[in-house]
Amino acid sequence: MRIDILTLFPAMFAGFFSESILKRAQEKQLVEMHLHNIRDYSTDKHRRVDDYPYSGEAGMVMKIEPIAACIEKLQKERMYDEIIFLTPDGELLNQSIANSLSMLQNVILLCGHYKGIDERIRSLFITREISIGDYVLSGGELPAAVLTDAIVRLIPGVLNDETSALSDSFQYELLSPPVYTRPYDYKGHRVPDVLLSGNEKLINDWKLQKAMERTKEKRPDLFGKQNDSD
Ligand code: ADE
Repeated sequence: MRIDILTLFPAMFAGFFSESILKRAQEKQLVEMHLHNIRDYSTDKHRRVDDYPYSGEAGMVMKIEPIAACIEKLQKERMYDEIIFLTPDGELLNQSIANSLSMLQNVILLCGHYKGIDERIRSLFITREISIGDYVLSGGELPAAVLTDAIVRLIPGVLNDETSALSDSFQYELLSPPVYTRPYDYKGHRVPDVLLSGNEKLINDWKLQKAMERTKEKRPDLFGKQNDSD
């Protein structure tokens, strides 16, 4: 999978891409990440990427030409499955959106500034708009990083143990059950004995029961959804 990120702040992604899962996924050549500085596509002698709004309210608006030039250059090189704009008024990101995006080949993520992007960029180029939550961040960079992480970890081979993405919270509309490691006894707080029983069926039944209890308690809105989607 190839992900092209269009941003005014490429340096914001540097640390994130060179650590942990994202690093490993690129080393294994399961994902290619490409950062594009929108400013490099400005033809203006001052390399301007924004301008005053026609409507006269405060704040600057990102101009269409540099973003269009960057997207059009990329589109000449390959076909893109989706051109996604990160924005708080997009559809709310969830596990099923991440699952479906992880199956695509080529994706562009556009990081803009909410209220501050010429509407024609959205109408002419954007195929999908995604929000990472009902709160406003100062730009689309953190949301693009969140979306990238949610997608890349689902690509087969990225996680060491392939089953571990399948057992994530939300993958079956259930939260994950609790997990434990050594010591067995921490100041009198013991690991549930069933986990030491060696009986796979008992352990799996316990995990499912705990996942259901946890979901009912913490996210009752999710509970029962697994039947709805059948
Ligand atoms: N840009 C600013 N806030 C955002 C959010 N919550 N989700 C996606 N993009 C954003």
